[in-house]
Amino acid sequence: MTSKPAEKRQVVRFAFYKLDSAWRRLPAERQASSKLEFGQVIESFAGRLLLRPYGLVGIRGDCDFLLWQVAENLDSLVALQTALNRTDLGAYLALPYSYLAMTRRSIYEFPEDLGQPSRLVIRPSEARYLFVYPFIKTRAWYALPKVERQTMMDEHVRVGRKYPSIRLNTTYSYGLDDQEFIVAFEGDDPAEFLDLVMELRESQASSYTLRDTPTFTCVQMSLWDMLDTLGGAGSAQAISRRPTRADGYTPAATLADLPPGASRRVYAGAEAVALFNVRGTVHAIANRCTHARASLSEGTVDADRCAVTCPWHEGVFSLETGRVLGGPPVLPLAVYRVKLEGDTILIAPPSVEAREPTVAPHS
Ligand code: FES
Repeated sequence: MTSKPAEKRQVVRFAFYKLDSAWRRLPAERQASSKLEFGQVIESFAGRLLLRPYGLVGIRGDCDFLLWQVAENLDSLVALQTALNRTDLGAYLALPYSYLAMTRRSIYEFPEDLGQPSRLVIRPSEARYLFVYPFIKTRAWYALPKVERQTMMDEHVRVGRKYPSIRLNTTYSYGLDDQEFIVAFEGDDPAEFLDLVMELRESQASSYTLRDTPTFTCVQMSLWDMLDTLGGAGSAQAISRRPTRADGYTPAATLADLPPGASRRVYAGAEAVALFNVRGTVHAIANRCTHARASLSEGTVDADRCAVTCPWHEGVFSLETGRVLGGPPVLPLAVYRVKLEGDTILIAPPSVEAREPTVAPHS
């Protein structure tokens, strides 16, 4: 008997952290260095898992930020949390909520999904907000004939379609964690999401909900902006502690971090830069796609064309010139200068002329 090859699925974790206020009373120097260390540990996992930071400061009292983590296996999630626990900032962080789930195909049929990208792979958008909650259905739901459940799901989908700017990511937790699903909606307008949820309460399927709390409204932001919402010394200060040399170059990574075929996001000053190792040559471009700001370090590289395809709408950029080679983007990307010193990869912005060391004039 031949068995069907298993579909590749992803593991997903929504980890909500709360900072101990004792950290805010530490000296500014230590706050800055602990933010830098924490941020660099997260960056070092680029390529191994997809990680999105979101802030909740000013929104909820029991957690300060979310790290939305998507990986190919549980080991990567364990490795990330272990590394974060070892940091100085990690010693001041509690984890009041952590939800584990996996991607899978729905058992219900949704014709409008035909031709859409597979739901087995999480593709976060650049929406400003993420609305997350764990979800459990009543046992009575599972006792209903499937055709009846499909009818109710169809109604659910019809309501959802009235709010096209809200995008749903459903992941499954059966047997892995306490809830049955984690639902994560992306959107730019909290009012629209509120209206959608209110309308869904009137749907037939809603009467089969056992639990759908707590609910988290999360604001997408850069890693360093998120760290700054925690208070203390600013991340800009932390980032600027990275040594930029007199010639304008900043050490960004090592070749060991970026083997051939790999890509990763790094920072030059406060700017996110995508590094690619294409057949042994390192290329550096601005990380944000000029179309809708997707993270290009998560794109697909075509080594023959020396180009990257944006993970969202298939915009294609040359890694050598930054020019648009295809897809919706119109504007080119900034290309950073790259040089190697031993194993160290150094990058410098294109517009910065190499600076000679300044020599004070003799009087
Ligand atoms: S964000 Fe649309 S092509 Fe990159």
